Amino acid sequence: CRVEYLDYEVLSDHGWEVDDPDLFEKAGAADLDHDDYGLFLAEPGETLLEAAENRGFAWPFACRGGACANCAVLVVDGGLDATVDNILSQDLVDDGFRLSCIGRPVTDDMQVVFNVKHLPGLDELRL
Ligand code: FES
Repeated sequence: CRVEYLDYEVLSDHGWEVDDPDLFEKAGAADLDHDDYGLFLAEPGETLLEAAENRGFAWPFACRGGACANCAVLVVDGGLDATVDNILSQDLVDDGFRLSCIGRPVTDDMQVVFNVKHLPGLDELRL
C-alpha cells in the first residue's frame, strides 16, 4: 500500500483544515519536512503504525493495543481494517478516524493525517 501521510501539527501552521479537499495537494507543494509529509510503502501484514516505524518514522503511540487513541489517524482516502474492537466512538469512526496500531491498510493507496490525538473527541480518550 502506498501511504501518503501528513502531520496534523502542520495544518495549523499553514491555516489548513482536515476537511480541505486540496489538503494533500497543498502539502505536496509546500516543501515540507520528510517527517511531516511524504510517501512510504506499507508491506502486507504491517499495521500502519508498524509500517511508519519500519520506514524510520516516529509516530505517536502508547498502548499499541487499541485502548488509548494516542496513535489515532484520520483516513482521508483509502482504508484501514480494524480487526478488534477499539475505543473510538462510532461517530469518530464514521468521520474517518482509525487507530494506526491495530489498523492494516486494505487499499493500494491511502492518504492519512497522523498525530491527530489532540483533535476534539480524541483528547479525552488518551491514557
Ligand atoms: Fe493505544 Fe493505538 S497506541 S490505541
